[in-house]
Amino acid sequence: MAANEAVDDVLETVAAVAPDVRAGLPGRRLTEAGVENPSGETVTAADVHADELFFEALGAVDGVVEFASEEREAVVDVTNAAGDAGATLSVAIDPLDGSSNLESNNAMGTIVGIADEPLPAAGADLIAAAYILYGPITTMTVAREGTVTTYVIDGGEMQAVEEDVTLPEDPVVYGFGGRVPDWPDAFHDYAREVETELKLRYGGAMVGDVNQVLSYGGIFAYPALSSAPNGKLRLQFEGAPIAKIIEAAGGASSDGEQSLLAVEPTDLHQRVPVHVGNEAYVERLENALAQ
Ligand code: AHG
Repeated sequence: MAANEAVDDVLETVAAVAPDVRAGLPGRRLTEAGVENPSGETVTAADVHADELFFEALGAVDGVVEFASEEREAVVDVTNAAGDAGATLSVAIDPLDGSSNLESNNAMGTIVGIADEPLPAAGADLIAAAYILYGPITTMTVAREGTVTTYVIDGGEMQAVEEDVTLPEDPVVYGFGGRVPDWPDAFHDYAREVETELKLRYGGAMVGDVNQVLSYGGIFAYPALSSAPNGKLRLQFEGAPIAKIIEAAGGASSDGEQSLLAVEPTDLHQRVPVHVGNEAYVERLENALAQ
């Protein structure tokens, strides 16, 4: 099996699972699983359910040899003895991004990175990345071969609704995570400028907030914090796949100094400051942080 076909299978499998993840949300509202994930955060029952659904489905895809999830400590070897060794894909997934939004019934997502290298992989080794947005409509946005396509997921099937998705040239929105007093001074000063130019859109789920940037142009950031110099978001499960999508859509990404796709992976659950959006805003951010 060629890697391309295996990537098709992974994306179609993610799309097929999405309606089950969505259908499982109402019954799991306000329910904590009573455990912490490897990053020390409280795991909800919805996180656990989504993780199990994706693990079961993706672990059975021929050509997928490694599976890693934000909810699991280590990479799982899912080499399928019956599978064709022609493809050796690694899949890293944030099964339910923004799951704390379940309590307030706001947007959530799923983020997937597909690499042809062992995990943890560099963003540059991603051959495809995708996110699902569980909004009023379930959509899936995929970066592959340098272009971005948005699909509506209907009955578990992907139906393309927009091809060659690019960031609008005139940015409109921004969303920055973390508490203002916890922002380093340089980021604080940059944010003060941005808020005079763009409209605030922040919903607490990276997928929802990034999708606003992709739709309207602008910048999303979960920056380095004084209390957490690497920020909150994880390179494998959030930063790198989202950077792959935004860069393929003509935007830019940065950890503050370099593209998120260039950040060296040292640990499966490593955190990284995330800034993604229109190139001019990301460049200004890097200049501001360099002062
Ligand atoms: P979680 O999946 O634990 O709810 O975390 C979501 C992430 C990301 O999606 C979002 O951008 C960020 O956390 C929001 O964090 P704040 O609540 O600190 O704004």
